[in-house]
Amino acid sequence: MSEAKRAAGYRAADMIEDAMILGIGTGSTVYYMMERLAQRISEGLTIHGIPTSLQTEVRAREFGIPLCSLADVSGIDIAIDGADQVDPHKWLIKGRGAAHVRERVVAACAKTFIVVIDPSKQVDVLDGSIPLEVTPFAVSYVVAELSKQGDITIREGIKKDGPVISDNGNVILDYSVGVISDPKTLQQYLNNIAGVVGCGLMTEFSDKIVVIGGG
Ligand code: A5P
Repeated sequence: MSEAKRAAGYRAADMIEDAMILGIGTGSTVYYMMERLAQRISEGLTIHGIPTSLQTEVRAREFGIPLCSLADVSGIDIAIDGADQVDPHKWLIKGRGAAHVRERVVAACAKTFIVVIDPSKQVDVLDGSIPLEVTPFAVSYVVAELSKQGDITIREGIKKDGPVISDNGNVILDYSVGVISDPKTLQQYLNNIAGVVGCGLMTEFSDKIVVIGGG
């Protein structure tokens, strides 16, 4: 599977042109994109990247990729990011890495949004669990609301007791309903719950997405 991720990441990196402002997503497939981007930078490509997470920021610095902040630019030429599931409408579930709030902002600012995935991420119908970033004060309320219809859990840290805290200081919940029959309506519902900063269902970018399957 990592060869498919590398193929997708490298193909996306090869679509970047000189002087572009690049949104850099989070995750293992984006890691390969940065690996190839670093090669291209060493060959003379000039770009600036905007990272979507602390993890991506650290890796980008290790790769020698020049970074800037969203406030410094008037727009993003291409955002490149991974996904957990992609359906035929190019609707997505994202957020396994708890970075989906910043990832949504960067995708919204981008003229083109390239989703890099291995073939296991392609599904006919979205049915994965949906990450939710929730402000800590609201966690008990959101859990109570969503446990009425579906399965809701607080994501636990690894090598850390207690919940996963996002780069924005919020708690991550995972919500499962099985097959998602109407992703647009569910996305709207989840994002409208008081205290939810953002969910990982993304149905709004279909018109600017290029999906690259590896393999
Ligand atoms: C990060 O929060 C996620 O949205 C990732 O972009 C997504 O989980 C894909 O990650 P991989 O490329 O590691 O599978």
